[in-house]
Amino acid sequence: MTTKGHVQVNDESLRDGLQSPSVHDPSPDEKLALLHAMSAIGVDVASVGLPAASARAVADAAALVKEMSDARLRVRPTAAARTTEADVGAVAEVSQRAGASVEVYAFIGSSPIRHYVEGWDLAFLRKRVTGAAEAARKAGLPFCLVTEDTTRAHPTSLTALWDAAIDSGASRLCLCDTVGHADPFGVEALVAFVKSYLAGRGASHVKLDWHGHEDRGLGLANALQAASVGVERIHGTAMGVGERVGNVAMESLLYNLGKIGERPPVPLQALRRYTDIAARAMRWSVSPGAPLVGELSRGIDALREVPCVLGEQVPPIPASTSDAARDATQEEGFVPIRLRVNDDPVETFVRPSRTLLELLRYDLDLVGTRQGCDKGDCGACTVLIDGQPHLACLTLAAHCDEREVSTVESLRGPPALDPLLDAFDRCGAGQCGFCTPGMLMTATALLHRDPEPSREAVRRSISGNLCRCTGYGAIVTAIELAAKIKRGAEPAGVDLPGRHVPPPLASAKEKAT
Ligand code: FES
Ligand code: FES
Repeated sequence: MTTKGHVQVNDESLRDGLQSPSVHDPSPDEKLALLHAMSAIGVDVASVGLPAASARAVADAAALVKEMSDARLRVRPTAAARTTEADVGAVAEVSQRAGASVEVYAFIGSSPIRHYVEGWDLAFLRKRVTGAAEAARKAGLPFCLVTEDTTRAHPTSLTALWDAAIDSGASRLCLCDTVGHADPFGVEALVAFVKSYLAGRGASHVKLDWHGHEDRGLGLANALQAASVGVERIHGTAMGVGERVGNVAMESLLYNLGKIGERPPVPLQALRRYTDIAARAMRWSVSPGAPLVGELSRGIDALREVPCVLGEQVPPIPASTSDAARDATQEEGFVPIRLRVNDDPVETFVRPSRTLLELLRYDLDLVGTRQGCDKGDCGACTVLIDGQPHLACLTLAAHCDEREVSTVESLRGPPALDPLLDAFDRCGAGQCGFCTPGMLMTATALLHRDPEPSREAVRRSISGNLCRCTGYGAIVTAIELAAKIKRGAEPAGVDLPGRHVPPPLASAKEKAT
């Protein structure tokens, strides 16, 4: 599995999402259940709300932050604040009660229309930004300045506000398309503008967020564009709930960031569980036509993942969550697992009977690992678990919790070609190729523990890998050659690429001459 990078996502369901007049404010336990569902789909940071709104908001936010620590969830907290010292103080109180740091997302109106209506001038706004950022700095909390309506603000207003924030220690700037005004070209231009501004003032360490709305139906396209042009953190909400027509739907955002290689893929079943839990918590219904998660998407094979979604139910919340939160999910039969696959973190829920082979091929789309006999006879499904070869068809996914799994996709392609791929190519060691991924992973483990294996040792090591084309001689020779390449006893990458591409057939005319 290759990823271009790891663009982060910020789940704003419990802040912006709750600004929709049509959703129900979840109970504390429902919020905890939703928090676990966010963590299970790999959300990096989540807003725990606007603590300054009320005493209940402080209590709920503190409970969420504490749960993140106690349950060792991967998701980290952010909290919203107006750009006032009092609001930042409320976030600091949450942080102290929970005993964990919380990123402050302080927002301020930046568009001319807002300034006109409120009677604000830039000097006043800069003072507020400075005061809020300084308060966060004193509390030891990271500070992000959220310029509302960035896409409709004047550049000189923006740079004045950004200057004030960065001078006071802001580590992030959040660019907002608050009324869904922009298109992807505008997003690209805005990001180029802010990046050149940051470079110009020697502040390229300041990271960027993108927060966009769906008023023109361009929210997802804009979010993907922002990720493609270098924004490090993108916002969304479950099912896109939020003010007016809503935000970018988190499930679509994650699925599509996976498709363009900006994040590890997330199984559809996990995204559907997330939206089910969110819908229940917010008393919202998933529209039948909702992309990826609606009933119409669930019944068809268009997404190639039917084997892992048919009949799936909502997973259990991990045991560290309160009983009430666990009850709120009403699921049965799933277990949470967290592992690394080809160096990428994977956090999901699986049925106890799901095999590692099914997890790899059908949930993670890593189809290099072959499904041959499915009963331990052929070795085509061989992968490495913590460096040791295992048959993925006989290994339960749940047994891979907290372990490292490597599949054939982990072997380097050109230009720094893995010696085994190089040698298999040079020796013509693949015929139909069915056994090849399993052979490669078995050989990877062999060469790791024995850099100079005898021919007999090579033959013994692949004795559990059947080649139905019976090309064993070339395979053994290729593994010996790979060992030599790894040791530097043979040059790497000879005649690449295409040494084995046959020359064009002679034409009838050439034959005649
Ligand atoms: S598919 Fe696993 S051994 Fe054949
Ligand atoms: S190359 Fe065909 S099964 Fe081995």
